[in-house]
Amino acid sequence: MQNNTFESVQHFELRDNLQLTLRPARPEDAGELLAFVEQIAGESENVTFGPGEFGMTEEEERTYLRQVAETPTSLYLVAEIAGEIAGTLTFSSGKRPRVRHVGEFGISIVRTYWNLGIGGRMLTYLIDWARQSGIIRKLNLRVRVDNQSAIHLYEKMGFVHEGRISREFYIRDQFIDAYHMGLEIDPLPGT
Ligand SMILES: CC(C)(COP(=O)(O)OP(=O)(O)OC[C@H]1O[C@@H](n2cnc3c(N)ncnc32)[C@H](O)[C@@H]1OP(=O)(O)O)[C@@H](O)C(=O)NCCC(=O)NCCS
Repeated sequence: MQNNTFESVQHFELRDNLQLTLRPARPEDAGELLAFVEQIAGESENVTFGPGEFGMTEEEERTYLRQVAETPTSLYLVAEIAGEIAGTLTFSSGKRPRVRHVGEFGISIVRTYWNLGIGGRMLTYLIDWARQSGIIRKLNLRVRVDNQSAIHLYEKMGFVHEGRISREFYIRDQFIDAYHMGLEIDPLPGT
């Protein structure tokens, strides 16, 4: 993106005529987002919660979504296909001045929509959003060392490996290491 005209709602056509919309989450998405989270929990062991473990009520989720919407250094991005939530990306930075420029994100997409390019589109959105924020200068993430598609995607988007964290996950009686990866953000001129 060459100028400071960041669009917060973006539309794309994917393979097979699928229409993708990327937009910030709204408080009224709370119920659908909790159902989405539960679906992801049952579909992938690459996230930090299993079925029934997310632990937020709809009211708590709604309050959280309101807070995110009011915080210029937080993002809760929704990917929508045919009016249903197909993926989410959440990012938040530190609160104090010394750590406000850096934050971590997580991304999840419904299994039936993997490998259609949605993850790439959402990461491009995050990077453009961070660049135009004028505040965010570093994006961090943690990923299981065996999550090959995610690692491939992050490397493709320019993220670099910054270290290996031992015992980051504990799933089915096994510890699993994670890579710490990051991307430095250059702000857009004039931001
Ligand atoms: C990881 C995830 C977000 C990727 O989303 P996505 O929409 O499938 O991503 P994209 O389609 O944009 O890109 C996926 C890339 O991985 C590649 N890929 C798929 N399987 C792969 C494998 N086993 N090894 C290496 N690369 C692989 C695809 O070919 C594609 O790369 P390409 O565009 O260069 O061909 C999605 O799979 C997901 O939600 N997984 C479950 C939760 C998760 O793992 N979240 C990340 C936690 S850190």
